[in-house]
Amino acid sequence: MDTMSSYQLDVGLGERSYPIFIEDGILERIGADLAKRDIASRYVVISDDYVAKLYGPTLMATLEQAGIDALLLTFPRGEASKNLQVFAELSSKLAQMGIDRKSGLIAFGGGVTGDLTGFLAASYMRGIPFVQIPTTLLSQVDSSVGGKTGVDIPEGKNLVGAFYQPKVVYIDTAVLTTLPVEEFLGGIAEVIKYGVIRDFEFYCYLERNLDAILALNPQVIQEMVHTCCRIKAEVVAEDEREADVRRILNFGHTIGHAVEAASDFSIIHGHAVAIGMVAALRLAVSSGLCKRKEAGRVATLIHSFGLPTEIPEEMDRNRIKSYIKTDKKSIGGSVFYVLPTTIGDVVITNEITDEQVDKILKK
Ligand SMILES: NC(=O)c1ccc[n+]([C@@H]2O[C@H](COP(=O)([O-])OP(=O)(O)OC[C@H]3O[C@@H](n4cnc5c(N)ncnc54)[C@H](O)[C@@H]3O)[C@@H](O)[C@H]2O)c1
Ligand SMILES: [Zn+2]
Repeated sequence: MDTMSSYQLDVGLGERSYPIFIEDGILERIGADLAKRDIASRYVVISDDYVAKLYGPTLMATLEQAGIDALLLTFPRGEASKNLQVFAELSSKLAQMGIDRKSGLIAFGGGVTGDLTGFLAASYMRGIPFVQIPTTLLSQVDSSVGGKTGVDIPEGKNLVGAFYQPKVVYIDTAVLTTLPVEEFLGGIAEVIKYGVIRDFEFYCYLERNLDAILALNPQVIQEMVHTCCRIKAEVVAEDEREADVRRILNFGHTIGHAVEAASDFSIIHGHAVAIGMVAALRLAVSSGLCKRKEAGRVATLIHSFGLPTEIPEEMDRNRIKSYIKTDKKSIGGSVFYVLPTTIGDVVITNEITDEQVDKILKK
């Protein structure tokens, strides 16, 4: 089997455009490519301690081989590190290391590392360049592309941040082999999302290749990640700051976020999004926007991957409802839902009634 194939695409943002490379095993070869790019004179790699332990030596070796001056900084893994305290500690370390405006950062890890490092790059000395090397499926298909960076504060997730694009994204699908299956499936929910919002053909590809995806077939995984990045790049190029079309990426997230929060984050993001997508499809059916059969087809695929489709019995419905209302995407008191009209197309509406939502949440 040919596992050496590679994909390249570009996020078209005028002079801030940047390439995305997707390749099985590219991690070992990043140095040679990065050395050719005029991004920074030296780099600080920022990574969580777990990713640093697994893959730090490989990355540092390829950088050194290419003659790139680079140091590694780590922080404790997990969402709890995506905060202003870790941000401040890393800022101080950069200053103590004498990192100046000609230096660059390399975000090496999952979405937590990417969001934190990207925001650090956006702010340190009012902005230094950065590179993304995402290592979770979620970060490879979603968070590393598009330039949303930031940290959490006690009042809410991602409330402090900036739009700041990387200079290049390197995606090594081979690192997904060490990802816990729960994390992998969380990423798959976002993958299914892309098919439903924008690409019926890709959706069918996911149905056909379910077994190959779950078996981490390198060829299929690369093609899948490539398609997701292409869709995300297209949407971001059309609407970088989420004024209109970028909002379609929130499909499944209105109820998903509420379920995630109401579980006190014991249900991980992607799994909550899976539940949220099924709920949104049911709202679409009850609004007469989407055929019941199509909604059922997506729920079946989500279930076949081993993702949840139902809100847990015991979860407090009123808590979910109050989280839906405080969703930061609700503007002027009305909650916006991204609802499919068919597999591959969606509308954004604020015309969903409380009664409809009540019916969907019913046990
Ligand atoms: N910026 C955006 O557009 C955007 C979009 C979606 C999500 N996000 C953010 O992304 C974050 C979630 O990202 P995540 O799910 O990648 O979480 P994460 O970065 O915490 O990674 C999950 C876990 O997997 C481990 N890990 C990473 N790569 C691994 C590998 N190859 N093998 C084994 N273990 C590995 C990490 O150490 C961590 O414990 C959230 O904070 C969310 O807000 C941002
Ligand atoms: Zn998401």
